[in-house]
Amino acid sequence: MAEKIIPVEVLIREAKDVFRKQFKEEPDLAVFAPGRVNLIGEHTDYNDGFVMPMALPLVTVIVGKRACGEDSTVYTTGDFKDKEVTFAMPNKNALIQALPRDGPKWSLYVKGVVAKYLGPTPPAFKAVVHSSVPVGGGLSSSASLEVAMYIFLDSLTGDTSVPVTEKALACQKAEHEYAEMPCGIMDQFISFMGRQDHALLIDCRHLTSTLVPVTDDNIVFLIINSNVKHELTGSEYSTRRKQCEQAALILKKACLRDANLEDIQYLQSINTDKEIIRRARHVITEIQRTVEAAEMLKQLNYHKFGILMTQSHLSLKEDYNVSCPELDDLVRLALEVDGVLGSRMTGGGFGGCTVTLVYTHIVDKVIDHVKKNYKGKPTFYICKPGQGASKI
Ligand code: ADP
Ligand code: GAL
Repeated sequence: MAEKIIPVEVLIREAKDVFRKQFKEEPDLAVFAPGRVNLIGEHTDYNDGFVMPMALPLVTVIVGKRACGEDSTVYTTGDFKDKEVTFAMPNKNALIQALPRDGPKWSLYVKGVVAKYLGPTPPAFKAVVHSSVPVGGGLSSSASLEVAMYIFLDSLTGDTSVPVTEKALACQKAEHEYAEMPCGIMDQFISFMGRQDHALLIDCRHLTSTLVPVTDDNIVFLIINSNVKHELTGSEYSTRRKQCEQAALILKKACLRDANLEDIQYLQSINTDKEIIRRARHVITEIQRTVEAAEMLKQLNYHKFGILMTQSHLSLKEDYNVSCPELDDLVRLALEVDGVLGSRMTGGGFGGCTVTLVYTHIVDKVIDHVKKNYKGKPTFYICKPGQGASKI
């Protein structure tokens, strides 16, 4: 059986109950921001390339209200040792705008967004964070927390002046500087911009996007969480980024978005380090696959779309080396079932989830087959594309 998706209204109700219990008063603001699954276009966002994620009905909600004084307090219902933090709000007019990067790791996502917020100085607040996005599963629980926080601050200040791409960039900055994860822009962008029943082809160079309808009831995207996360994630991510920059530098290009397969031949001809060549080959071919996949989805050519997904996985495994045995097993097992069109790891890699395109009437068969044969304890989500972040 797939996991039940808790409706946003229910999450909000639960969060409000927690707020009353914690703060002995009534919250008057509620917002949500979704996690995401990337359908194709992996490790291309920080190369100015294309990605095609969809927003999930798995969301982070924040409820709260303005507080008296200068201190803000945030409580998370997540499974963390220190569940509540209090911090003094920064005065944007003062020279020091930053908030200290101390306290539990989860609070750095919150403080980062407060520090990078682009609207007028927000007042102090009390808030409860409550989420249905699995934490650390590669479905962007962290970005959904950042984006929910940003929208919460917008609700407090009433600001509507900042363009949404600027807000996404501010959340990305928060993640870079506070969580010290040099992520691309995909997760924050889709969490703000996702649309019900649509995937989003994002051009990460120009920060523009095209909606691609996903409305056919005959197909579904099945997400399988391997429920493993290998420690490598952080350090390997920045190593990959540096290797891409190195390849672009050798090619005298601004970034790998500007490179093509002839450039791979050139790198080979000058005996470039083989690992660097493989990294560049993944990014160049993945950008091409993503653009083609968007076209295939528009044309309802699921067969070809699925092939591109599986090719993407192979490229991530063989050339980019960001998969792991658990993800490879999940992809292999899914592809063993007739009626599965394509399967791949999704997100940064080294654990987390796979995404599989499958005919709807086959999906239970895939779940059974994986359950019987996967060595770990997987969880399953059958998701239609959800809506981007919003105030309730
Ligand atoms: P993901 O793929 O889920 O984004 P990350 O490891 O990048 O995984 O981010 C997970 C981190 O985000 C958590 O360890 C925590 O610090 C923060 N986080 C996510 N959801 C919540 C939440 N509901 N409450 C508090 N912190 C959260
Ligand atoms: C994520 C990161 C994204 C993107 C992705 C790989 O973890 O936050 O920006 O780079 O990995 O496609």
